Amino acid sequence: MTTPTLTLTGVQPTGELHLGNYAGAIGPLARLAAQPHRETYVFVADLHALNSRPDPDQLRDRTRKMVAALMACGLDHDRVHLYRQSRVPAIAQVSALLANVTSKGTLNRAHAYKALVAANGDAGRDPDHGVNMGVFTYPVLMAADILAMGADEVPVGADQAQHVEIAVEVARAFARAYRPGALRAPRAVVAQNGGVLPGLDGRKMSKSYANTIPLLAAPEEQAKLIRRVVTDSRRPQDPKDPETCTLVALLDMFADPAAAQEVRARYRGGGIGYGEVKAVLADQLRATLAPMRDRYDALLADHARLDAALQAGERHANRRADETLRLMSAAMGL
Ligand code: TRP
Repeated sequence: MTTPTLTLTGVQPTGELHLGNYAGAIGPLARLAAQPHRETYVFVADLHALNSRPDPDQLRDRTRKMVAALMACGLDHDRVHLYRQSRVPAIAQVSALLANVTSKGTLNRAHAYKALVAANGDAGRDPDHGVNMGVFTYPVLMAADILAMGADEVPVGADQAQHVEIAVEVARAFARAYRPGALRAPRAVVAQNGGVLPGLDGRKMSKSYANTIPLLAAPEEQAKLIRRVVTDSRRPQDPKDPETCTLVALLDMFADPAAAQEVRARYRGGGIGYGEVKAVLADQLRATLAPMRDRYDALLADHARLDAALQAGERHANRRADETLRLMSAAMGL
């Protein structure tokens, strides 16, 4: 019996999940987690979220909603351990220990910090204006998330790949300085371009472009947003290219395959207007997401189920992180 592959990822408690998050990250993760011989750890990165100094009540609320959303998306079976990062105190302790084998130069080169410094430079401000230590040491905490659990694979978006590389670098530094093999070096699993879903304006669906459709919002709200999807000016009778249309991309991802096929055929032949496609898409989305939305509403209404899932996940996560902390502390002379 070999040990199962340990997959780990963290999600920031940033408001609501949108269709792009589901298509590019959460959906693939739920499918991965369902594979045999795999153990999956998924957490809400509430400690990381602190670097933007969110309102405390809002952070609590968003953290809870994110847990419910992840469960509603299928990350709720017995091989998925869901937890709040802050409820696994050893992670912060591991982070404090790892700080001593992490060079400042590495953190200086981290993209997110560098972007802030560059923006300050462009605006003629002090380079470190508005940069707190939570931002600067973000990659160390993220390395602790990964190394404390002994993750084999870390599925992330391309923007997070550098952070996983830093975790590998930190694990190696610990091995050189203290104890080879104490920390398992992870492998980033970066989502391919197939994971990119277009948003309302045709660019990648992303919160930073304000072009998202929320995953678990009311169907009427989603329908309203769908009506805003940007299309070209072809008339209903004109033939259209399904490959370049945002509506078709959304149908491919979320509609019943037969319905998507039918729309594609009618694009090529002419004879379907964008208004009609938008109505089809809204209907399809409503049907596809209904079970998820029901689970989400039920979870937020029933505290006991959500709390039980977190309690179980946090027990597993604490056991692993405590063990890593123990090994590291011993190796370091504490
Ligand atoms: N930094 C990730 C993001 O912004 C969230 C995250 C925190 C994470 N810790 C992690 C992802 C550990 C993977 C592994 O999306």
